[in-house]
Amino acid sequence: MDIFRTKTGKMNESVKLFMEEVLQGLKSSPKTLSSKYFYDDEGSRIFQQIMDMPEYYLPEAEFEIIQTQSEAIARRINQTRLDIIELGAGDGRKMVHLVQVMSQFSADLSYFPLDISEGILKVNEELFRKTVPSVHFESLAGDYFKTLPALKDRTNPRLIVFAGSNIGNFRKGKAVEFLKFIKGELKPGDFFALGVDLKKDPKKILSAYNDPTGLTKRFNLNLLTRINRELKADFDLKSFEHYATYHPITGAAESFLFSLRDQAVTIGDEVIQFQRDEVIQMEISQKYDLPLLQELSSAAGLSLDSVYSDSQGLFSWVLMV
Ligand code: AVJ
Repeated sequence: MDIFRTKTGKMNESVKLFMEEVLQGLKSSPKTLSSKYFYDDEGSRIFQQIMDMPEYYLPEAEFEIIQTQSEAIARRINQTRLDIIELGAGDGRKMVHLVQVMSQFSADLSYFPLDISEGILKVNEELFRKTVPSVHFESLAGDYFKTLPALKDRTNPRLIVFAGSNIGNFRKGKAVEFLKFIKGELKPGDFFALGVDLKKDPKKILSAYNDPTGLTKRFNLNLLTRINRELKADFDLKSFEHYATYHPITGAAESFLFSLRDQAVTIGDEVIQFQRDEVIQMEISQKYDLPLLQELSSAAGLSLDSVYSDSQGLFSWVLMV
C-alpha cells in the first residue's frame, strides 16, 4: 500500500522512526513499547472514553483545581504582561477557566497552545476565540521540544504549563531530562506549572487502570492494531491479555500485555518470538508525593514554589521556578 512508501521507495520519516522504535523495543528484554504511540485516531477516542469512566478520577480532580484555585495561581504569578504556553494542550477545555481568570490580572495576556495534532488545535482555537476573545491566541503544531524553543525570543514573562499528569508517562530519568529542558526555557520571573496525580489509596489507583469495562485493555491492544496497520505486522489480538499493577511505595502504575501462547509475530521484514506468558511493558503512569517532586525538580535545577490541590487531595498543580 502506498501510504507506507513514498514514490522514491523510501519509507515516510515518521513511519520509519515508529518502526525503529517498535523493533528496538520488542528486541529488548523485557520487551517494551512506548505509550506515546497510543494516540492514533482510535486511541484518542478510547482515551476520551477513559476520561469519562467513573474509576478514572484524574480529569475531574484536576478540573476542580482549575475551577477553585485559578485566582490563587493568578495572584501568585501576578504579571501584567504574560505568555501562557501549554504543552500538549489538546482541545483546551481544561485551560479556558484559568486563562479567563488570568486575563483579569494580566492586561496583556497571550495563550499559546502547543500540540502534535493540528486538528485538535483548530478545535482549541475555536473555543478560545469564542470564550476569551480579548486574549491573544496563537497555536503551534509539532513536537514541543521544537515548538517551545521557537517562542524563546518573546520578551513577556511566561507561564509554561504541562497538565494532565502527562509527565507520569516518563520514568524517573526521562522525567528529570524533561524538567531540565523546561529549566533551560525558564527566565527569571517565569513559572512552570506541572499537573501531577498523587499517591493515594492503592485500590483507587489500581481501579483507574484496571477498569471492569476493559477500556484500558482496549487502549493497550489498540497499539498492536496500529502496529499491524502502519508497520505491516500480524499481531493476533486474541493472543494477548492486559495486566495492570500499582506499587504503593514507588508510586508506579504500570500496564503490561502478555502473550497467551508461544507465538511468532511478523513486523515488516522481521519476526519477533513470544513465549507463553512473556510480557510487553506498555505504560507507566507515575504517582507523586512531595518528596518525589522535590527530588525530581531539584535534580533538574528547579525549585517548588507552591502547590495547589483538589479538596480530596487526589491531584496537584505544582508551580516551579
Ligand atoms: C494521559 C498519561 C495522564 O497515565 O493516566 C489513561 C493515560 N493510560 N489510562 C495516564 C492513560 C491509561 C494517562 N495520561
